[in-house]
Amino acid sequence: MAPLLETRDVSVHFGGLAALSDVSFGIEPGERLALIGPNGAGKTTLFNVLTGQLRPSAGEVFFRDRDITHASVFARTHMGLARSFQITSLFPQQTVKVNALIALQGTKRRRYHPFRYLMKDKEMQAAAQELLEAHGLWDLREATVSALAYGLQRKLEIALSLASDPELLLLDEPSCGLTTTESAEITTLIKRLGSKITVLMIAHDMDLVFGVADRVILLHYGKIMCEGTCEEIRANQLVRDIYMGSRHAGPGLGKR
Ligand SMILES: Nc1ncnc2c1ncn2[C@@H]1O[C@H](COP(=O)(O)OP(=O)(O)OP(=O)(O)O)[C@@H](O)[C@H]1O
Ligand SMILES: [Mg+2]
Repeated sequence: MAPLLETRDVSVHFGGLAALSDVSFGIEPGERLALIGPNGAGKTTLFNVLTGQLRPSAGEVFFRDRDITHASVFARTHMGLARSFQITSLFPQQTVKVNALIALQGTKRRRYHPFRYLMKDKEMQAAAQELLEAHGLWDLREATVSALAYGLQRKLEIALSLASDPELLLLDEPSCGLTTTESAEITTLIKRLGSKITVLMIAHDMDLVFGVADRVILLHYGKIMCEGTCEEIRANQLVRDIYMGSRHAGPGLGKR
């Protein structure tokens, strides 16, 4: 099967720093792929290249066999690529429902509406309800986002990143800063997504990685050091050295 997304020899340099060096990998349709690696390994940089926020210094990115290396963020979203951020990108002073409406706004099936119309548009209201209900968030529709527990904010954010009906969802540390219980909920949410959505996620939380991923890639100093199934990664000596070695800053094989 052709990969849904593929990078070929992607490198990113920030001045003298090689944040990514010759990164080549592919993700199959329906696959759940986890990207792990210590702080500063280049994981978020790779995501920025995939979403179009950052142009690589060298190399190419393909989505459904199309070269998208120079495509805009908007064009990629339109093609079916969505991301949620390491840092929350919600509108904190707005309600859950308004956030859902904003997320639905401008997605591939919908036209732009001025805000006052957005609030009255029946189709948009129904879409917001459907989106929130699908993730058990409808009861919280009138709650102000900033008043929600952090775990719920993360959950809402992932739910809203599905507003554009993406084929590929990129999640940057979806369980960062969450309690064990909240993190388990995120694991369940991702597992429930169904095989129509391909998931590439960055995670430090190995419970999340081992609970969700079909395959794991270890990035270290901007290079792919190894990849394999969860069992292979769990047993890999290099992974153990990097994650448990005292010389390297970074998370343990348990929680951060
Ligand atoms: N815009 C930038 N300008 C200069 N250096 C950058 C920039 N963005 C990232 N870097 C550097 O590139 C390297 C990779 O950073 P990146 O954020 O991709 O790491 P990460 O794997 O996501 O780390 P973390 O686990 O802490 O989120 C780091 O050394 C970082 O300081
Ligand atoms: Mg990062």
